[in-house]
Amino acid sequence: MKHIFANWKMYLDFAGSMILANQLAEKTFDSEKVQVGLFPSTLAFTEVEKLFRDTDIAVGAQNVVWTPKGAYTGAVSAEMFAQAGAQYALVGHSERRYIFGETDTSVKKKFDACIDAGIMPILCIGETKEDIDNNKREYRLKKQLMSVLEGVEHATKFFIAYEPVWAIGTGEPCDHLIVANIHDMIKAELKSYTDQDIPVVYGGSVDATNVVSYLSHDNVEGVLVGHASTALEQFFPLIRAAEQI
Ligand code: PGA
Repeated sequence: MKHIFANWKMYLDFAGSMILANQLAEKTFDSEKVQVGLFPSTLAFTEVEKLFRDTDIAVGAQNVVWTPKGAYTGAVSAEMFAQAGAQYALVGHSERRYIFGETDTSVKKKFDACIDAGIMPILCIGETKEDIDNNKREYRLKKQLMSVLEGVEHATKFFIAYEPVWAIGTGEPCDHLIVANIHDMIKAELKSYTDQDIPVVYGGSVDATNVVSYLSHDNVEGVLVGHASTALEQFFPLIRAAEQI
């Protein structure tokens, strides 16, 4: 089973989200082989969720806030997303970390809030180019894992998305052999926190031309796709490719 997660970011407005969602709703694929999750904007979330309720396509939140309710202007909590049908939430995406100033501490709160609300968090981790230049790639990834997973309950289920910051939205994907090595390292590291088999997916300039190179590795259990997930003619081939693995 491979997972294809579509992070629409702020690429699609409400109308654009509904056009793509309706196009996808007409398509069929083998859900025993591929699991698809869509992450629309908060504005489009409820309508997209309504369209895919009780289907093989899941819908998730791009971002959540940890406090369930209260005086938090502009925020939508994990609990509210759960009530609205979210099955997943992205947590710690590099755009949240580096553009919106999220820290390892706030990422942990969001992760825990998702678990409490019954949403499966997809914890995004990734090193910057600078980390690589300073020989800190492994250090960065382990630190991001530790700050969230320390003390995690044994039965907790979640995903890890390995997303090198320098590969996101740049058209400069990380080589699939390097990704497979890093996933081995992440999986070994996860053993210190949980006995669960935690799926690890890759994200960063994935498209129809390179998706098979990633998914053909057993330890790359899916992909998190940004730009190439925002148009049917680019996105549906990814689903088809995953079906063939
Ligand atoms: P990209 O984004 O596919 O546009 O590089 C991936 C992501 O940010 O999850």
